[in-house]
Amino acid sequence: MRLIFALLTLISSLLADDFITRMEYAELLYLNPRGIGCDKCHGNDAKGKVIASFRQKGEIRKLIAPPISNITKANFFKALDNPKTVMPKYSLTNEEMESLYEYVTKQP
Ligand code: HEC
Repeated sequence: MRLIFALLTLISSLLADDFITRMEYAELLYLNPRGIGCDKCHGNDAKGKVIASFRQKGEIRKLIAPPISNITKANFFKALDNPKTVMPKYSLTNEEMESLYEYVTKQP
């Protein structure tokens, strides 16, 4: 009985390590970064998209979230710390930003 318990504990601790991979974790963060998901504006594949189009002074204008899959790490971190227009300010840890960066730059 004690042996079985020990084995079960061992197996579950081994499984727990691989419960989700780094990439799965990063994807969850991308979709749900304690706030509106990055995907809503930058698209599922981080290649950017048109958030809205509207008419201003007779001209059709577009509000665009830029692609973020091909950006330097420095610029990525800077943008998250200091969004310029409609992008929300997130309170992400360095580790979370690292994961997000890895995720967006690995999009095919
Ligand atoms: C509401 C829409 C919206 C959401 C949600 C959003 N962004 Fe943005 N993002 C933008 C827009 C628009 C810009 C262009 C400049 C600005 O507003 O800061 C931008 C700019 C960026 C840039 C800089 C791109 C460059 O070329 O300089 C990065 C990096 C970025 N976003 C990453 C993210 C990440 C990561 C998330 C999720 C944690 C996210 N964004 C969520 C709209 C959004």
